[in-house]
Formats: sequence, C-alpha cells, structure tokens
Amino acid sequence: MAELRERALRCVTCAHLASSRKNVVFGVGDIHSPLMFVGEAPGADEDVTGEPFVGAAGQLLTKVIQTMGLSREKVYIGNVLKCRPDTPGQTKGNRKPTHEEMRTCLPYLQEQIRIIQPKVIVALGATAVEGLFGRSPIFITKLRGQWMQYEGIDVMPTYHPSYVLRNQSLATKRETWEDMLAAMGRLGMEISEKQRGYFLR
Ligand code: URA
Repeated sequence: MAELRERALRCVTCAHLASSRKNVVFGVGDIHSPLMFVGEAPGADEDVTGEPFVGAAGQLLTKVIQTMGLSREKVYIGNVLKCRPDTPGQTKGNRKPTHEEMRTCLPYLQEQIRIIQPKVIVALGATAVEGLFGRSPIFITKLRGQWMQYEGIDVMPTYHPSYVLRNQSLATKRETWEDMLAAMGRLGMEISEKQRGYFLR
C-alpha cells in the first residue's frame, strides 16, 4: 500500500488536476479493516490536508462511524478520485468528477481494494457507485440499501454525507443508518437495542 501511495502522490496523468491540487488525497485508516468507505473526490478541506473526509461531510461521516462503535482508525476511508476536481475561475464550491477522470483514477482504488480485501464496502453517494462500477448515472434513492457486488465483495450503496447534511429529514437519516446497520450485520458486529433504534422518531 505504501508503494501504491507513493505512485499516486507522484501521479500527473490528469495534468489539469495535478497542476491545481495542493495534495493528493490517497486514503487513510486500517489497511486490514473488513470495512471500507468510498467517497467521490476530495473537496477543498481534503485538498489542503491530504486526508479524505475531514470537511463538514467528513465530520458527519466520522460521527456515523463512531455511532457504529468504530473509529476512523479502525476502518479504511478513500475516494474514487485522489485529486480535487479543479474549478477554474471559481473561488469556492466543488464539481463532480467527470467519467474520464474517474476512469483514469480508478486503478488506484481497485488496487487499494485488492490490497485491503474488505468484507464490506460502503459506497457514499451516486458518484462513488458510478465511479466504482463504471456505470452511467444512477439514482441513489433507488439503489441505496440494496447489496451490490464488486469482485465478490459486498457493496452497500448509501447516501453521501453531504446529501444528508443538505436534507436533514429524519427519513433520510434513518435510511442512511439502516444501511449502516445492514453493513454491521454483514460484518457480524454486535448491534445494541439503542443502535437499532436510532432515528426511528
Ligand atoms: N466528499 C467526498 O466524496 N470525499 C471526500 O474526501 C470529502 C468529501
């Protein structure tokens, strides 16, 4: 993994992203973890720190992981794209990675998955699912909560934490949480009554 990371840190295949990035955001956590989270691409905060999911969405993801009884150190967190999608002429905001960018960067994620061999991958949002499976646009509202398979590994598609932040409804929180309960069940984790009951009302 260290060798793969070194290669990613030097990668300039997407010249426009290599010239605009501050840091390559490779991934963090336990490379022996049975649980891996995959997001879409670094945002501004991640670009500055070089660590995935540290901004507002990341703080929510960290809370979700802790509510599962885990910590960021006990899981692995990565993205489809390792560089922040550039936003020329814009001073703030993010853009969705293009299919071309995701296709170009995917071998890094594929190699990370082959090294980690997680039992469960949680795919955060439609773009992560699209990037991982190379599929054209999908509706995450239709797909979430239903197990998918990636090279024999169970994949649970769920909402991206930034979507949950924008859409603060109890139903969205509960659906996200049910997806995490399903992942915990598949991992053979113990689930308390308290954990089962979150966001029911
Ligand atoms: N959103 C993502 O998809 N990934 C990050 O690392 C941060 C925000």
